[in-house]
Amino acid sequence: MNLLREEIKVLFVCLGNICRSPLAEGIFKNYITQQGLGQFFYLDSAGTSDYHVGAAPDQRALSIAADYGIVLQHCARQFKPDDFQNFDYILVMDHLNYDAVLGLAASLVDQKKVFLLRTFDAQSIDFFDVPDPYYGAVEDFQEVSEIVWRSSQGFVKFLIKAEQLDSALLLRPPRLT
Ligand code: 4NP
Repeated sequence: MNLLREEIKVLFVCLGNICRSPLAEGIFKNYITQQGLGQFFYLDSAGTSDYHVGAAPDQRALSIAADYGIVLQHCARQFKPDDFQNFDYILVMDHLNYDAVLGLAASLVDQKKVFLLRTFDAQSIDFFDVPDPYYGAVEDFQEVSEIVWRSSQGFVKFLIKAEQLDSALLLRPPRLT
């Protein structure tokens, strides 16, 4: 139970919702759990297309996730305008999907929720796409996982400032007497 605050709701978005975004959701969940922050988050992922709605993650994403000890349990779904109401942060994998999501924003408040995930990657200077690995090899999925891991670290650093996440950690549920 989180007595402190609403969960921070984060949605990861790619094109098909079978490769990058479910892997990003799984890796981010793994990272925040390691950091003791898991209870502060609600996570999901979606695709801007309807190509794979209802499908499980790609086998290569499942296999890279398994290397991290993560089991991906996701059923692909399409991004919908309601997601702007249901999430605080919408982290998109590349600029094409970023444009597609922004095209559905109904207000400045909606627009401000949308970020390119890789802008939180400390090793990225002038290229902020997580490359699409769908037509690639397992090494491309490995690269995605490394980018997402670094971006997860950067995003949590950002949230510590934006959401005072570290002060939330200091507070504990009251003792029962
Ligand atoms: P994702 O990868 O957007 O990372 O899930 C893709 C999955 C499917 C397709 C393209 C990219 N597709 O063209 O079907």
